[in-house]
Amino acid sequence: MYPVPSVSRMNKNRKTMVVFDTYGPYLVVGMPKCTNSKGMKIELGPVSALCRCGGSGDKPFCDGTHSKIGFAGTKDPDRREDKVIEFKGKEITIFDNRGVCSADGACIRESPEVFQKDKKPMWIFPDEGEVRMTVETIEKCPSGALSYAIGTQRIQDLDREPSIKVAKNGPLEFVGWIELVDDQENKPESKEHYTLCRCGASKNKPFCDNSHKKIDFNDDKN
Ligand code: SF4
Ligand code: FES
Repeated sequence: MYPVPSVSRMNKNRKTMVVFDTYGPYLVVGMPKCTNSKGMKIELGPVSALCRCGGSGDKPFCDGTHSKIGFAGTKDPDRREDKVIEFKGKEITIFDNRGVCSADGACIRESPEVFQKDKKPMWIFPDEGEVRMTVETIEKCPSGALSYAIGTQRIQDLDREPSIKVAKNGPLEFVGWIELVDDQENKPESKEHYTLCRCGASKNKPFCDNSHKKIDFNDDKN
């Protein structure tokens, strides 16, 4: 049987946070490492305001545009349902929440035999791949949409240093237990990693739902 990672490696005691209200930017506290999609380092201060409305002229930082355009980070009632579905295999069970998938495509790229995007309504076939490879693929899922269980132990989190990656024309990818605190009590699917919308168009704000592709969100600089 594939070895289940030890929970003891997970360190939840790091003092990094992202704090925000419905109408303002993401305030990142604690200076986690931050890079853009080109691998360039982005310097953060003790508290840095990052754009979530998509309109800043100084991305990824906030330049106050949200107040000019009347941005509101509320959820759309027509958003994809936030629901975890279980796909049970002989050795591994895969859990999937389509509501928070940022559709970066890592799963279908890395394990196309397990994650078959054109099959509906079933699209995950846990027994079609080698378990080690499937686990490695799930660990690359930036949004937390995918997780797995070996035996009875569900694994949703990894153990990484706190960091933020500005995805190319896409969301902010948070890893490493950066605590999310907002005025709507949003909870990420995995507390260790999640993707936050920075294009302003997600129907499931603050989480990315891949709307950045539909609106052709563009941030050449990052
Ligand atoms: S976010 Fe996760 S579930 Fe969505 S496409 Fe990427 S790897 Fe697959
Ligand atoms: S960045 Fe993905 S929906 Fe906004």
